[in-house]
Amino acid sequence: MAAAIHFHDQCQNGANASLREETLAGFAGDPKWASPKFFYDRRGSELFEQICQQPEYYPTRTEELILRLAARQIAEIAGPQASLLELGSGASRKVRLLLEALHPASYLGIDISRDFLLSSTRRLAADYPWLEVHAACADFSRPMQLPEGFDGEHPLAFFPGSSIGNFDPPEAQVFLRNLHTLLPPGGGLLIGVDLIKDKAVLEAAYNDAAGITAAFNRNLLERIRRELDSDIEPARFDHQAFYNEEAARIEMHLLSPGAQTVTIEGKRFSFAHGESLHTENSYKYTPAIFCDLASSAGFKSVALWLDPRQLFSVHYLQRE
Ligand code: AVI
Repeated sequence: MAAAIHFHDQCQNGANASLREETLAGFAGDPKWASPKFFYDRRGSELFEQICQQPEYYPTRTEELILRLAARQIAEIAGPQASLLELGSGASRKVRLLLEALHPASYLGIDISRDFLLSSTRRLAADYPWLEVHAACADFSRPMQLPEGFDGEHPLAFFPGSSIGNFDPPEAQVFLRNLHTLLPPGGGLLIGVDLIKDKAVLEAAYNDAAGITAAFNRNLLERIRRELDSDIEPARFDHQAFYNEEAARIEMHLLSPGAQTVTIEGKRFSFAHGESLHTENSYKYTPAIFCDLASSAGFKSVALWLDPRQLFSVHYLQRE
């Protein structure tokens, strides 16, 4: 029998409506864009898990190393009564290190990818029978409320993977302010943030030799084709990822190698030869720049851990 979880559905029918609206707005833009949150249907979430295992993609294993080394200190700071909530929980793998160190009474996983969320939180509930497991299907880029029944008195929010980097800095500030509203004073935020580093290391991470990141990028178009009324052909777009040093971000694009017209929900969009659909930014920070951003949203820095090669950072912030 599957282990029981408390499921809170805050996506409902809104997710598909927002895919339609945001896709039509993005394809009509100049330059054209698509929101990276739509990467994560079941297939996209599986591809992302594969990205995390590619030798070039250092963030996942580096963050895991940091968490493994810091887990005991994190548990001491969070205190014995903490409950854990994870934003963008995906496969909920890294959080296992925290569950084992903190031993919280309850856990809440929040993700936009419903099926993936359900299967990973059910696995957690089966593996940790002492844990009360909640799952909320929600778009955490928008203001949220803690679901009823989840004990949010001493919460530690966990936002791993440098997903904060997928917001532009002003959006990241709004996101942190929303979290500030969600958490009570003194609530913790443990957040993974990728660091500015050598361009070659960054570019290799988003252009893995096995082509998994390229497939992940194109899956956005497959999803548009599957879920909306569209004749778009993903194979007719090329993956591109490069580091924009001035903006301190990796940019991912899908390039149209020739002129083509695609139809989405009855609307026609023309691509010129070499024209791009901008699909994702992944901002990189220094610890000091990130602390300033957090402080502007009402969080103070309590602790900071880096790996020995200074590839990645994990900040423990406290809501003021
Ligand atoms: C989820 N996010 C932090 C990943 C990143 O590195 O920006 C998404 C990703 N895109 C391409 N590879 C991984």
